[in-house]
Amino acid sequence: MSKSTFPENFLWGGAIAANQAEGAYLEGGKGLTTVDLLPTGPKRFEIMLGNLESFTPIEGEFYPSHEAIDFYHRFKEDIALFADMGFKALRVSIAWARIFPNGNDEKPNEAGLKFYDDLFDELLKHGIEPVVTIAHFDVPVHLVKEYGSWRNRELVTFFETYAKTIFKRYKNKVKYWMTFNEINMLLHLPFVGAGLVFKEGENKKQIQYQAAHHQLVASALAVKACHEMIPDAKIGCMLAAGMTYPYTCHPDDVFDAMERDRESFFFIDVQSRGEYPGYAKRFFEDHGLTIEMEQGDEELLKANTVDYIGFSYYASRATSTDPEVLSKQTAGNVFASVENPYLEKSEWGWTIDPKGFRITANQLYDRYQKPLFVVENGLGAVDELSATGEVDDEYRIDYLKKHIAEMGEAIKDGVEIIGYTSWGPIDIVSASSGEMKKRYGYIYVDKDNNGNGTLKRYKKKSYDWYKKVIESNGAEL
Ligand code: BG6
Repeated sequence: MSKSTFPENFLWGGAIAANQAEGAYLEGGKGLTTVDLLPTGPKRFEIMLGNLESFTPIEGEFYPSHEAIDFYHRFKEDIALFADMGFKALRVSIAWARIFPNGNDEKPNEAGLKFYDDLFDELLKHGIEPVVTIAHFDVPVHLVKEYGSWRNRELVTFFETYAKTIFKRYKNKVKYWMTFNEINMLLHLPFVGAGLVFKEGENKKQIQYQAAHHQLVASALAVKACHEMIPDAKIGCMLAAGMTYPYTCHPDDVFDAMERDRESFFFIDVQSRGEYPGYAKRFFEDHGLTIEMEQGDEELLKANTVDYIGFSYYASRATSTDPEVLSKQTAGNVFASVENPYLEKSEWGWTIDPKGFRITANQLYDRYQKPLFVVENGLGAVDELSATGEVDDEYRIDYLKKHIAEMGEAIKDGVEIIGYTSWGPIDIVSASSGEMKKRYGYIYVDKDNNGNGTLKRYKKKSYDWYKKVIESNGAEL
């Protein structure tokens, strides 16, 4: 066997989110969350941007989170498959509304707490480390309706209570935590990232950055509580990463690319370095934004920084100051990006750039000098299930192989990476499109975009391939 470049206890595995996998959206006392109001189809994107018509699901629309892949009832079967593949870690999220159905109830919901107890026990039984995201794109709807979600400072207290409740309950089971999934998503899909719904004429930027401040304070409070309550745990932040390339070497393009990256780094700069960077202060001034802070916020942020930098990487981005180039945007990307003529794209228009992964990892490590954890990476593609139950997903193997190889190069560059959990090791609902057709898994789930199918699980070709990758600690790709 060839020599591995990956550290001995490298956390190989996969990542899912409650709202995209569990289903059972009102079972066990769970309350409605923001994602439960996202149908598939044309309305979805509008709502994700913050234009919500109704606080209850609309008759006639299809809501993919309501059943998802029924992980809530099938997690034992699914975890057995992950264990068979040799997973060392599984990243999951806790649905806030399972623990506090309204988000701010007097007492937590025991059935919800028990569900995650069972889930973590099952993982630990198989020697799989649970890696837990506290908030992955779902806010209890009650908090959106009654408080305006993260625009309201009160959410900080509700979140702190929620975080402390789960730390207390799972302190002996969970040692890796993350506060907000892709915290920078708040600027791109405000309803998804922070449950924000806008009224006509509102200054969206002002609301978004105020909500960002609330999340950053809430994140610091969670870090503080985690360190106090579970001293042997590690808690990280989570960035939707992907370096922005300047389209040309014209200084204007280079500066523009730097600013685009800073739009994302802003969050991590606060979570990891503990203070608002100078460029953010200037940005607020230039845009006439005023961020309301309470006394003690700055000290809190400074004193409670994260232990590691979790990030997702799917694609690099590119930008230009030339209006003509700028008009050629990639399709289907949540992050605005101009087309990169040197790179291929996925069926959903996401740029495929393995080398960009290495660059991004280096960039993050150079900036923060803290361990990195790759908590999402993968290829969303259409898979065909053959009549005999096989899926030949060589294209997925190809994508992952190249990305893992570049991650190995980053490690050789000196970047400290503690683990790699590829996105959607079993097919789940797509966050951006709500489709089932956009699959990431090593395990195929028989379900289509309209909710038809047996939900039966099938191993794809990539299943055995990834198993070997883990077995060889990344030496055999
Ligand atoms: C990240 C999210 O943005 O990308 C996941 O954290 C999401 O929730 C993943 O599923 C892939 O995006 P999509 O839209 O293809 O599901």
